[in-house]
Amino acid sequence: MKYQEIGQSGVTGSRVALGVMRIGGKTREEAAEVVQTALDCGIDFFDTADIYGAGRSSMMLGQALRDVGVPREQVKVQTKFGIFMDHELKYTTRYDFSHDHLMEALDLELELLQTDYVDFALLHRPDPLVDLEELADTFAEMADAGKVRHFGVSNMGPWQVEMLQAAVGQRLEANQLQFGLMHTHAIQAGLHVNMEDEASLDHDGGVIEHARLRHMTIQAWSPFQYGTFEGCFIDNEKFPQLNAKLDALGGEVGATKEAVATAWILRHPAKMQVVCGSMTPEHIKNACAGADVEFTRQQWWDLYFAAGNDLP
Ligand SMILES: NC(=O)c1ccc[n+]([C@@H]2O[C@H](COP(=O)([O-])OP(=O)(O)OC[C@H]3O[C@@H](n4cnc5c(N)ncnc54)[C@H](OP(=O)(O)O)[C@@H]3O)[C@@H](O)[C@H]2O)c1
Repeated sequence: MKYQEIGQSGVTGSRVALGVMRIGGKTREEAAEVVQTALDCGIDFFDTADIYGAGRSSMMLGQALRDVGVPREQVKVQTKFGIFMDHELKYTTRYDFSHDHLMEALDLELELLQTDYVDFALLHRPDPLVDLEELADTFAEMADAGKVRHFGVSNMGPWQVEMLQAAVGQRLEANQLQFGLMHTHAIQAGLHVNMEDEASLDHDGGVIEHARLRHMTIQAWSPFQYGTFEGCFIDNEKFPQLNAKLDALGGEVGATKEAVATAWILRHPAKMQVVCGSMTPEHIKNACAGADVEFTRQQWWDLYFAAGNDLP
């Protein structure tokens, strides 16, 4: 495993983090095995959110960290909040950065995670009704109380980040975005600037360049999925060309397909962190091995092309 500073926080995290969105379907014993596997592979960074499983993911993660007996200070726990969910209906009704909602969500997360603080708290998705002064006061209250050590955002474009950063007193250290071999539009659009083809459609506003300029860590979510959550592209017959290239390059560097797909993200000079969501120990081990795979420029490009992209 390799480690990197998250933003400019002074805090390091494993380049492959474990995302626990899918841990709610596991038993307590299985969850502990997943977390122990992650730790054994060198993962020290865990990502959850208040809405995952309507709180069940954070509860299972907190329990599993206790069950395996890892000291709290040896791991980094990150949560995300700002999406209001009707807990009875398990249905998202709005994005909400109001003081009361964020404070309530954070306190519940701390309780479920069985901890006094989270290392990072990210605003999960942009709230168009955000009151900037109220958000600044909320962050200050959370930081002063020692409940949140560092802050960040998720699924936000450069101007949304700039606006929030201008308002709050704490640095925004990370932007968690959907990125991977089947989510390359943030790169594609940059290569097709000033063109009229489909690849030139800019969905992200230069978010990778922005993160590099502002020294924010991009945390790549759903690194093995295609579509929003349509499925895993590894060993999927819908993607024969990509799987053939994953196989071939894996053969060249002695790595599995998961490792190759992980290494492709980590090769990007933005120094991204991969948020692996697998709950299968073997898959987690394979993904983590990707942190030690190094690609040449051409190998990186070859995978980009095999994923269905081209040059203008
Ligand atoms: N910020 C956001 O808006 C946002 C949104 C979504 C997710 N996230 C974060 O990102 C994390 C990862 O998301 P994700 O779970 O969608 O990502 P993922 O790691 O790309 O996908 C995991 C899924 O792929 C399957 N998989 C992995 N390797 C496989 C293989 N070799 N063969 C077959 N299936 C395989 C896993 O099954 P197995 O469990 O069997 O391996 C699991 O169902 C989440 O846990 C969450 O922390 C953030």
